[in-house]
Amino acid sequence: MRFPLFAAVCILLRTTVAVFADEAWNVDYHYALLGEPQEETTFFHQPNPTSKASLIYTLSKRGVVGAVNPRDGSVVWRQLLSPNLTSSTDRGFLRAGEGQDTIVSGYGSQVAAWSAADGRLAWTVDTHGPLKDVEILELSDGKIESGAKDVVALSGGGSPAVQRLDGASGAVKWQHKFQEGDEVYQLSASTTEVFAILLHKTVLGYIKIRVVSLDPVNGRKTDEYTLSSEKELASAETIISVGANSASPIVAWTDAAHSVLKINIIGTKTVSSYNIEKQDGQPVEKIRIHAPYHANSLSHFLVNYQTATSHWADIYHIDHTRSITQLAYSLPNIAGQGSFSTSTSDANVYFTRITQDELITVSSASHGVLGRWTIDNLGLVSAPHEAIVPTHTVSELSVKGDSVSAIRTAVLLSTGDWVLLRDSKPVWARPEALADIRSATFATPSVLEDFQHKLDVETHRNFVGAYLHRVKRHLEELKHLPSYMSSMPQRFISGFLGTTDEGAMASDSFGFHKVIVCATGNGRLMALDAGSASRVLWSRRAVDLDSSESWQPGLSSRADVIVLERGSGKSRQTFNATNGDPLPGIPDTHDLQSGLGVQYTLRDGVLEATRTDKANAGSVWHFTPMADERILHLVPRPVNDPVASIGKVLGDRRVLYKYLDSNLALLATANDASTSAQFYVLDTITGSILHSSAHSGVDLQAPISSILSENWFAYSYTAEASDASTKGHHLVVGEMFESLVPNDRGGLNAATNFSTVQSGTDPFTLVQTYQIPEAISKMAVTQTRQGITSRQLLAVLADVEAIVGIPYNALDPRRPVNRAPTKDEQMEGLVQYEPVIEFDPKWFLNHQREVLGIENVMTNPALIESTSIVFAYGLDIFGTRLSPSFSFDILGKDFNKFQMLATVAALAVATFVVAPLVMRKQVNTRWQFT
Ligand SMILES: *[C@@H]1O[C@H](CO)[C@@H](O)[C@H](O)[C@H]1NC(C)=O
Ligand SMILES: *[C@@H]1O[C@H](CO)[C@@H](O)[C@H](O)[C@H]1NC(C)=O
Ligand SMILES: *[C@@H]1O[C@H](CO)[C@@H](O)[C@H](O)[C@H]1NC(C)=O
Repeated sequence: MRFPLFAAVCILLRTTVAVFADEAWNVDYHYALLGEPQEETTFFHQPNPTSKASLIYTLSKRGVVGAVNPRDGSVVWRQLLSPNLTSSTDRGFLRAGEGQDTIVSGYGSQVAAWSAADGRLAWTVDTHGPLKDVEILELSDGKIESGAKDVVALSGGGSPAVQRLDGASGAVKWQHKFQEGDEVYQLSASTTEVFAILLHKTVLGYIKIRVVSLDPVNGRKTDEYTLSSEKELASAETIISVGANSASPIVAWTDAAHSVLKINIIGTKTVSSYNIEKQDGQPVEKIRIHAPYHANSLSHFLVNYQTATSHWADIYHIDHTRSITQLAYSLPNIAGQGSFSTSTSDANVYFTRITQDELITVSSASHGVLGRWTIDNLGLVSAPHEAIVPTHTVSELSVKGDSVSAIRTAVLLSTGDWVLLRDSKPVWARPEALADIRSATFATPSVLEDFQHKLDVETHRNFVGAYLHRVKRHLEELKHLPSYMSSMPQRFISGFLGTTDEGAMASDSFGFHKVIVCATGNGRLMALDAGSASRVLWSRRAVDLDSSESWQPGLSSRADVIVLERGSGKSRQTFNATNGDPLPGIPDTHDLQSGLGVQYTLRDGVLEATRTDKANAGSVWHFTPMADERILHLVPRPVNDPVASIGKVLGDRRVLYKYLDSNLALLATANDASTSAQFYVLDTITGSILHSSAHSGVDLQAPISSILSENWFAYSYTAEASDASTKGHHLVVGEMFESLVPNDRGGLNAATNFSTVQSGTDPFTLVQTYQIPEAISKMAVTQTRQGITSRQLLAVLADVEAIVGIPYNALDPRRPVNRAPTKDEQMEGLVQYEPVIEFDPKWFLNHQREVLGIENVMTNPALIESTSIVFAYGLDIFGTRLSPSFSFDILGKDFNKFQMLATVAALAVATFVVAPLVMRKQVNTRWQFT
């Protein structure tokens, strides 16, 4: 009869075993991003000649080459070409030969070939000069030795040259060097020749286009001639580059006013000249040429003209016999911005035009429309008060008879979203603008803000007042009872089945659904929901940037107001975090930064601190590093860093008092001459140094990161190999106390009234060094509402594309060295010191996902004490919730209401059944005679 109870215990036990696994992929989210695709380096291509389905390949603005599955928008593979994301201005090149199973990228000075199916590196070659062009040779002699088509690369710099690289190995087959003086510009290859286009600067400062034709077999110069006349081209910007591998490559240029278009078929010396007519009296702002990229396609091309208000296009055919271009037909002028793409099918060429509301496809041969679709909604992401326009497109189509039966178009929108349209229906959207976040902040949506305010009132009143307030709050909440009751059945069922909706922001009583507002490199603000995966709440244009302008915005927030600062000292704008609406008022900065007494500037290598309040402005102190030292970075204590207890309770209930000062900062400097790094803990009010340490033999190319929180700091560096030790990564943790004697406050003992400026007691610092298996590129620390929960050090491991959360326990400098911990120390949770910290697989926040290019990690407290919200950005976006001391104030997702109710029911039944039996037994015992 014990069985039901036993079964119930078993059920409960079984469910508590799996605590972690079901939270992964549930509380966390990850966007594997590529960055905004670029027009010239994005195309559909079949990963190998036998496959029917093609992938979309791109080399993005962020220097990532990758393949995306057009069916669902998932990344098939990607490779980061530049470790230096923010400073890359390189456009790069990406080419795929017809019927080839590798794709070739050119970036910086590196040419690399990647397996198109899985992104494995086939070979890489350094050309020792900035690449100007990379092309694949489609030769008509058909002599492909190893199956892979050869590559030609044009590099500039000190010794400009063209190189032919073997398609299978990357070995240099020949090299043609140019004399210095002319700027190398572009490569074009026909089936029989390789042309290098050079820009020759004349005495008057104009530019002449010079074409050098080379023999593809041995790289010898076969011809050289100059195209444009004197005084025709003032700058290279008006040359319209054209794809290389068409049957007859062309070069086109225009004058600064965009009034004449000149076109030359490369290899011939005739230049055709076309007057550009103005439409609607608006000057032409941009001209683009779209041509097929295949050597066996018809030699037709499209010239797209764009004015501020409208766009149109002319289609030209090349007459090979007479070596001239002829205007075939025109596509009419349409208001607004539009974009064109080129597709091929056998030798036929098709042009697809996309505008805000329409998609049409024409054949290059004649103007008859082969397919027309109406677009209802170009943007999947809501961006009100804003016209979303297509920036550039690539299409893949299948033609049946005289019409296009299906078309897939990947469009980059002006919002930075990359959208795939099947016919005219959006199938997926990738928010690629998020790959370039310049600044981000957490904000509290207004719903949550009200609730948080009420809770704050309760914590700060005496308990009678707080109780009354709480009763009042519950009475107020009664008015939501009818709607609550009506949603009851649904809630009951979902609670019963454990399918509670995580997405609801309105019913977020744990404070998980904070708003993360990000300022992106394309001048937009985008808001994400910190609590639910993959949701862009709103997106809006914040500033209009020139294409060349790079901005360094600052974002901060107060409750549900976002303040955007356009670079230092520039104008400020405010927005509502809940919906992104601009707000009229500009808040006083002082309000936002109350508590911060000083601000720092780095001028001529000297760190200068000035007061923030304007009435009392002036420099407070300077930090001048020693000769040859340069300042790496300064990490202040987080503004919001609540500390629950001023002491550390030891195993024997005595207390070590923490050295707590909200005005602390950790400064790191490097000395390149002696390859050493120095770390200083500064009091930012007085500028005094509270602790310093120096390490020699430091690899200054490797990342150096640091963090300061509560009364402890941590930093990491990579030590070079020396006689005594091998190369390795080190993590140093220091904890500061008022005194190292328990129950003693040192110099502060009797002070009731204390000022750092006057008394200046120094902390006692315990320091411990650990060896770690990976270099840490960035550190952060978890934040909770009241700071009761223990902290975790969050470390970005760039080399393994991961983020780990290291519990402070593992780092504690008080871990006993060379001896086992005493009973008291065990009570505290201290374990014996080990010089090496291995990263426990459970510490990896990203689990098995690769989080690429993370540059910053931010944390923010949830409403419940146990939980800290984490958001990491860089190239990828990663977010999660952490409970460093486990979720002591919330039932986990694994808590199964059904099983609990079933157990209670089973127990009730058992009691009901067993009770009479027990009663009978007792009665029997009484009446039994022995
Ligand atoms: C990265 O960028 C910095 C700053 O722009 C530059 O000094 C450094 O040389 C770059 N590193 C690489 C590997 O490109
Ligand atoms: C922001 O918008 C929300 C929802 O429209 C509104 O409730 C809130 O009051 C607004 N906040 C401010 C500061 O205007
Ligand atoms: C704090 O100390 C200063 C100087 O030692 C004194 O002038 C001031 O009145 C003291 N304040 C309090 C609240 O005791």
